[in-house]
Amino acid sequence: MKRIFSGVKPTGHLTLGNYLGAVRQWVEVDQHRADALFSVVDLHALTVEHDPARVRRLSRQAATLLLAAGLDPQLCTVFVQSHVDEHARLSYLMECVATDGEMRRMIQYKEKSVRARDTGQGVRLSLLTYPALMAADILAYGTHEVPVGEDQTQHVELARDLAVRFNHRYGHVFTVPKATSPVVAARVMDLQDPMSKMGKSHENQAGIVYLLDDADTVRRKVMRAVTDSGREVVHDREASPGIANLLDLLAAATGGNPIELAGVYESYGSLKKDTAEAVVELLRPVRERHAELAADPGHVDKVLREGAERARGMARPLVDSAYRAIGLLPAV
Ligand code: TYM
Repeated sequence: MKRIFSGVKPTGHLTLGNYLGAVRQWVEVDQHRADALFSVVDLHALTVEHDPARVRRLSRQAATLLLAAGLDPQLCTVFVQSHVDEHARLSYLMECVATDGEMRRMIQYKEKSVRARDTGQGVRLSLLTYPALMAADILAYGTHEVPVGEDQTQHVELARDLAVRFNHRYGHVFTVPKATSPVVAARVMDLQDPMSKMGKSHENQAGIVYLLDDADTVRRKVMRAVTDSGREVVHDREASPGIANLLDLLAAATGGNPIELAGVYESYGSLKKDTAEAVVELLRPVRERHAELAADPGHVDKVLREGAERARGMARPLVDSAYRAIGLLPAV
């Protein structure tokens, strides 16, 4: 059976970008068609300045939101990365297979290291080695497919390269994974800055729709979305990125086609209004279910405990065989 792995890191509240680029696909398609694992990858949240209590809170919230969005522990495995030691164990081997040049070429490293330097914080070494840990996350489970938004495909390609290299040097251990992304909304843009990705850790929150925003907040953010000075509704990411983003959101929320939808609207105002309502309706059930689940933390704990146990059982033999293959003496 096909194996799928993906994750979300608890560096901020989950956004509409996370939902449309990844989580919705996991819920609607992936958990039904494969042996799938979805993880709150908390170790990755330590690669930038962080507040320990906040990371803990956000990890629980992310896990609760994944369940609220519809991940079903009867169908898939939901767990927290740091509960399964195999990720960190395998990450070191990945660092021994990757080169520093490869790590420095990663777009996210380039962007985030500049941001960390600009704010006077040092760049954590783990920010550079992050893709080795991400490769370990994926490879530890013999993963075939990794459903992610567009911004993560470079990291998945690196995981692919490392799997091929490891297998070539030390014998066949790893399945070679590939990234999959949704057709529409693989890259949701910030409503205030439609040239940049909607990211959960950006400072200006006016352009970010969070999954837990209430209906009025969602409406306000969409209605105030930055558009260009033109008037015609066209789907053109270069010339009219704000409008293209709204059309993508409307299409993703209603199951339509963004290019066809462009022909339906005469004004930016009516496009914004319909998009706002569609996003409100899309998120309503997730927010309601989250409130119910958050009132029952014991249930979420149980799901995470059982998920980690299952994940450990899957990863342990594979990581053990990688340790043997690379030349480490097995403990007796
Ligand atoms: P993270 O936490 O930034 O995002 C989680 C998922 O959401 C997608 N995403 C988006 N998709 C469309 N538009 C957006 N604006 C948008 N923002 C985020 C991301 O592409 C991702 O699929 N490194 C990963 C977490 C990770 C991981 C893994 C993923 C760690 N190990 C192993 C897959 C497999 C990350 O930072 O995701």
